[in-house]
Parts: sequence; C-alpha cells; structure tokens
Amino acid sequence: MKIAIDGPAGAGKSTIARLLARKTGYIYIDTGAMYRALTWKALQNNININSGEDLERLARETKIEFQYSLEDQKTICDGRDVSQEIRSPEVNAAVSVVAAYSGIRSIMVKLQQQMARNHSVVMDGRDIGECVLPDADYKFYLTASIEERARRRQKELLASGYDAEYDDIKNEIVARDLNDASREVGALKVLPDSIVIDTSECHVGEVLDKMLEIMKGT
Ligand code: DC
Repeated sequence: MKIAIDGPAGAGKSTIARLLARKTGYIYIDTGAMYRALTWKALQNNININSGEDLERLARETKIEFQYSLEDQKTICDGRDVSQEIRSPEVNAAVSVVAAYSGIRSIMVKLQQQMARNHSVVMDGRDIGECVLPDADYKFYLTASIEERARRRQKELLASGYDAEYDDIKNEIVARDLNDASREVGALKVLPDSIVIDTSECHVGEVLDKMLEIMKGT
C-alpha cells in the first residue's frame, strides 16, 4: 500500500502522515526532512546554494536515512542525528532553493522510491503523487489557509526552541510556497486524482478519520 500526501508548508501533512502511519502500521517517510538534511549540510559546509553543481556533488556524497522507534522518527545525515537542526530558520529559508534543482530532485526521488520499494508507506512532500509514487493507492492533498498554516509553523518553531514573529513566518511560507509551486520539475500542484482536504477548520483527529473513511470506503 502506498499513500501519498502532498500540500503546502504548514498544512498538517507531517502530523497527519505520522498518525496515519501509526494507525495503519505503514512506514512514514518525511521527504521534506531529506531536502532539509541536505540543505543543513550545505549550510554547515559553506556550500554555495546557488550552485546546482556543487549541491549535486554534495548530495551524491551524503547519506540520509531515517531511524524509527515507537515514539518518533529521527533524521540521520552521515550518521548524525539532525532531527532538530533541520527545523532551524536558516534551513527554512534556504531549503526551497535547494529543492528547486532538478538534479537534486532526481537523486532524492530515486532514494525515496528505493525506501518505498519493499514496504507499505505513508509518504509526505510536494511531488509524491506526481513523481515519487505516481501509482500510489491514495493521493491526498492537504491544504489550509495561509493564516492557519503560519500559526501552526510558529507553534512548531516555538516547540523546537526557535522564537519567530508571526508575520515573518507568514512571509517566509508565502515565498516558499511560490518557489515550490513554480519550479519546473516536481512542482507542488493538485493532481487530477488528488483527494483534496482543507484542514483549516479541522482537528487532527477529524482529518485522520476522514482519510481512514475514504480508504475504507474504496
Ligand atoms: O515539508 P517541509 O516543509 O519539511 O519541506 C521542506 C522543503 O522541501 C519545502 O520547501 C519543499 C521541499 N520539498 C520538496 O520540494 N519536495 C518534497 N517531496 C518535499 C519537500
């Protein structure tokens, strides 16, 4: 079983995907964390993020994995747990630039397809339904109002120890969405077979129930 969850930043994808994976027993793959881990490494190593060539070289020599436990999932980059670091404002600001390179995307997409090959998975990102799992059993597209998404991101950042102004977060999300939706390859979009769910007014549990209902009913 392959479940794709796409949508803009702050739509609730990772929370929902994690819960859905727990409920179904499938493996959760957070593809955003992979782009974030590469971006984190590039910033650490002073790699010019405006050079696709340098980034591709870096991507080829970087090992990104997930470590699963009952409570959570860790993102491991070259053997180091970077789960916290990849949520920093610096990574937030740079990640959609890194993710826009088609060379980087094809490396990541291959890796994500390998991870899904022998497992039932819930995978979230931007291009999962279109590029990574085009044959997914379900393609959900989660969205929410920009105000709600900015509020959620602010809460998430605060929980990770980063203080940030609501307006700055909102502007950053708008810029990132624009980048993610306007690139040539793997752009964020609603597909003809997407099941669109607006999470603005819904509690997490309600969204999850809605998805489980859809999966049961088909
Ligand atoms: O879901 P997120 O906010 O952690 O994603 C971080 C960035 O990575 C986001 O700006 C878009 C990019 N991304 C992508 O281009 N393709 C994916 N499959 C997942 C994330």
